[in-house]
Amino acid sequence: MRKKVTIVGAGNVGATAAHWIAAKELADVVLIDIMEGVPQGKALDLLQAMPIEKRDSHILGTNDYADTANSDIVVITAGIPRKPGMSRDDLLNTNSKIMSDVVGKVTAVSPNCILIIVSNPLDAMAQAAFKQSKFNRERVIGMAGVLDSARFRTFIAEELKVSVENVTAFVLGGHGDTMVPLPRYSTVAGIPITELIPADRLAEIVQRTRDGGAEIVKYLKTGSAYYAPSAAAVEMVEAILKDKKKILPCAAYLQGEYGIEGFYIGVPCKLGSKGLEQIIEIKLTAEEDAALKKSAAAVKELCAVIGV
Ligand code: NAI
Ligand code: 2OP
Repeated sequence: MRKKVTIVGAGNVGATAAHWIAAKELADVVLIDIMEGVPQGKALDLLQAMPIEKRDSHILGTNDYADTANSDIVVITAGIPRKPGMSRDDLLNTNSKIMSDVVGKVTAVSPNCILIIVSNPLDAMAQAAFKQSKFNRERVIGMAGVLDSARFRTFIAEELKVSVENVTAFVLGGHGDTMVPLPRYSTVAGIPITELIPADRLAEIVQRTRDGGAEIVKYLKTGSAYYAPSAAAVEMVEAILKDKKKILPCAAYLQGEYGIEGFYIGVPCKLGSKGLEQIIEIKLTAEEDAALKKSAAAVKELCAVIGV
């Protein structure tokens, strides 16, 4: 049977995620938004690209949650994006109300789906979705680490003038200023980047990774990044639909792992058909561990504001 993926929010990230899913023929897609006409128009346009792309994914645009029923995966991108000068945290109150509305509606008609949360501030929104859905933690996963790591990988590949395919990198922690890029676990063809890039230059690359979202907001002025964010969400969708058992950095609800209890934070996760199938615990130095705990404390503060 064909798989069904619903994307809530037919804006920049949502519509581009639909594009990647259809272009890879991963599933049929339902694109839903509160704006009347927008999901319908974008879905029809994308559907008409399928004969050219030789893909048979069906794409439906709608404002009616009944059309999203029995989805295998629901990707939530609904919300407002950042504008210049805004942090991801400035989106907290508006997006938590939107998250609450959306989670109630999608889970009512797709009680067995896996939720992938994208809306910002990411870790707090994942926590809100987890609490409201009452799903187990395996079925509520946040997207941020794949994007932050992809930014880190891009900058490393550019610095060393090597193929992006050679670069693996890990960014853990919350999706915010306290994110934790881990150069020690980042490699080029298996060689630790700490052996290839001088420490002061590496520190600049790490900082550029932390500021990766803001750098794009500054250029765009009216919104935030969406090509890489949507590709990142779709890498998670693909890992789940194809039961790939792929290890990716994702926001997961920790129950004591890394010494953190009861909060979403970015850690290495194995994704497969059940969703989050394993949290991988890697050894951190005292400094890395302190950075992860600081990041978790920042997430905890945001969660307290919205009471989740
Ligand atoms: P956008 O403004 O282009 O699209 C958001 C869409 O959500 C709009 O079409 C809007 O009508 C819709 N929407 C608002 N309330 C809704 C509701 N109650 N139900 C259904 N749809 C609703 O924004 P964009 O650029 O697509 O970003 C979406 C979210 O993703 C933002 O919160 C942004 O900060 C976040 N984001 C997160 C990333 C991450 O790494 N986790 C990366 C990039 C963006
Ligand atoms: C990003 O990192 C805004 O969270 C979004 O681009």
